Amino acid sequence: MSRRSPLITIMANAAYKAARGLTRDFGEVEQLQVSRKGPADFVSSADHKAEAILVEELRRARPNFGFLLEEGGMVEGSDSSNRWIIDPLDGTTNFLHGVPHFAISIGLERDGKMYAGVIYDPLRDEIFTAETGTGAYLNSKRLRVSARNQMSEALIATGMPFKGRACHPEYPGMLEAVSGSAAGVRRFGSAALDLCYVSAGRFDGFWEFSLSPWDIAAGLVILREAGATVSDIEGGNTMMESGDILATNGRLHEDLYHLLAEAAKAAAE
Ligand code: IPD
Ligand code: CA
Ligand code: CA
Repeated sequence: MSRRSPLITIMANAAYKAARGLTRDFGEVEQLQVSRKGPADFVSSADHKAEAILVEELRRARPNFGFLLEEGGMVEGSDSSNRWIIDPLDGTTNFLHGVPHFAISIGLERDGKMYAGVIYDPLRDEIFTAETGTGAYLNSKRLRVSARNQMSEALIATGMPFKGRACHPEYPGMLEAVSGSAAGVRRFGSAALDLCYVSAGRFDGFWEFSLSPWDIAAGLVILREAGATVSDIEGGNTMMESGDILATNGRLHEDLYHLLAEAAKAAAE
């Protein structure tokens, strides 16, 4: 059992509060699917409302911290060591289409390094939390990555390129290589939850290109505290800058890295 620290309690309570509106709005979106106008404007307002609640709650608890917000951009705080990195709704396309898989993601960066993370899936009432040095949790249960060490048994998640995203000509070859080697490949549509699922041992690995800092900030801490291995696609440490990420249970990191690297090499020839 975990007893939540004051910091994680603040983050979790902010997520719970913002989630109430999101859950209500998701119910509306399900109705709007059949309307001619469609739910797009409605979803964008749900997203902004959730972010406003998160900012209000976190600011009340820690008035001096800065913010990096998906919707609102950068907000400087008088405390230059601490910054919240927030995605108020990760999995917007799912939300927009009435697919029940999305989350709120709150990361805390301290002195330039990710220090704490909370990711909340309101429809399943699953809250993933981690603070540096104290482990990762799903609700009150301690998290560990999976023990699988055979790619043929592994379930690997990914984020596929989509319209408006930088072109990665090596991606189709990567997908072909991984799906030909693994037990299965999944594309669920919320990078934040993909990282949590690796941390929980549900997925054995995950890769995606060109993510934004708010997609991965909180997840990086949860992964690290659950014993995952994380790198960029080239094996380096530029995840927050490049947005490219490869996260695994550790045992399969080399194998997955090599599959991706070989496919990238083949695409470049
Ligand atoms: C997106 C989701 C998705 C990933 C995209 C992200 P959003 O975030 O995490 O899984 O493939 O790259 O942009 O737009 O739903 O916040
Ligand atoms: Ca996102
Ligand atoms: Ca978002």
